[in-house]
Amino acid sequence: MYVIKMKGIILHGGHGTRLRPLTHTGPKQLLPIANKPMSQYCIESIKGAGITEIAIIIGGLGANKVRDYYGNGENFGVNLTYIEQDEPRGIAHAIRLCKEFINNEKFLVFLGDNIIQRPITDFIDNFTKSGYDATVLLCEVDNPSRFGIADIENKKIAKITEKPKKPTSNLAVTGIYLLTPLIFEIIDNLKPSWRNELEITDALDNLLKQNDNIGYEIITDYWKDTGTPEDILNANRQVLEHICTRPSTVIIDESSKDWIGLKGHCIIGKNCKIDKSATIGPHVSIGDNTIISSDVVIENSIIMSGCKIDGGLNIKDSIISANCHLHGNNKDKTKKIFLLGEGTKISL
Ligand code: G1P
Repeated sequence: MYVIKMKGIILHGGHGTRLRPLTHTGPKQLLPIANKPMSQYCIESIKGAGITEIAIIIGGLGANKVRDYYGNGENFGVNLTYIEQDEPRGIAHAIRLCKEFINNEKFLVFLGDNIIQRPITDFIDNFTKSGYDATVLLCEVDNPSRFGIADIENKKIAKITEKPKKPTSNLAVTGIYLLTPLIFEIIDNLKPSWRNELEITDALDNLLKQNDNIGYEIITDYWKDTGTPEDILNANRQVLEHICTRPSTVIIDESSKDWIGLKGHCIIGKNCKIDKSATIGPHVSIGDNTIISSDVVIENSIIMSGCKIDGGLNIKDSIISANCHLHGNNKDKTKKIFLLGEGTKISL
């Protein structure tokens, strides 16, 4: 296996307020995309680039669920260290907590809610060989005021601004940062922003003012910050299209045999019972032990594990957390959209 010395950091804290009620019972980075927690894609991406020493910054509600799921990392082929952040005080604050772990080498930071489809190996190789103090990965977005934004002049980054009200560029700074220990000194002199956080964008902008030595690369493949339910459904569609190579493909665990009503681009977990008259897909992920009864229709949705859906419900564009029971009335066939926290019971 290709292994490099650089270490990685995954940010796995925060309150996930924009994703409530999905995040009332656990961290947003554990929400499943195509039946796998979104932060697992980060681990796979980092490991794919040859980095196996990874610190996960945990904090907030359900932080113990992160330790329970990933353990010491051996099931995922990496070596994990957990570092606790007492409050969500910003990305730069979380990075500062890793100074001892990093131990004076170049390093990679990956926000646990970012999904990137292409390998990151070449970005890391380029940074390792470069003399840059930092390299950021940029991606064009339609809604720049939601992100950190980079202004480019003469092929160099001129300015980095967090969530500008009047953006002067549509190049978002993605949550994948390549850094050197110099960033720790910069963070030590940082003031909290309007949202009372130590912003990585402010740290990078200060680094820019000090040394003018930040590189950038532009991602043209799929990248998503899964900050909203729509973003999560978008990422679910994208990953399903990637893993189900043909439109008619479904990925179904052996233990969930009945797949007659499945349209393409679906993934079905273990021990599911899906009635033959149900119509599932396209773009549907169903977790383990879920029961879907007769005449139910589901498209473009994530249904987590342990759910029961019956009564001929017609569901689209929904995210339904674990152990929800939904009971339709068999008459109303209009499409319904649900965003449900764990354990919700609904009878229509
Ligand atoms: C954070 C960063 C922002 C960056 C984004 C990428 O935003 O502050 O600069 O563009 O991640 O995912 P937040 O998710 O805190 O709104």
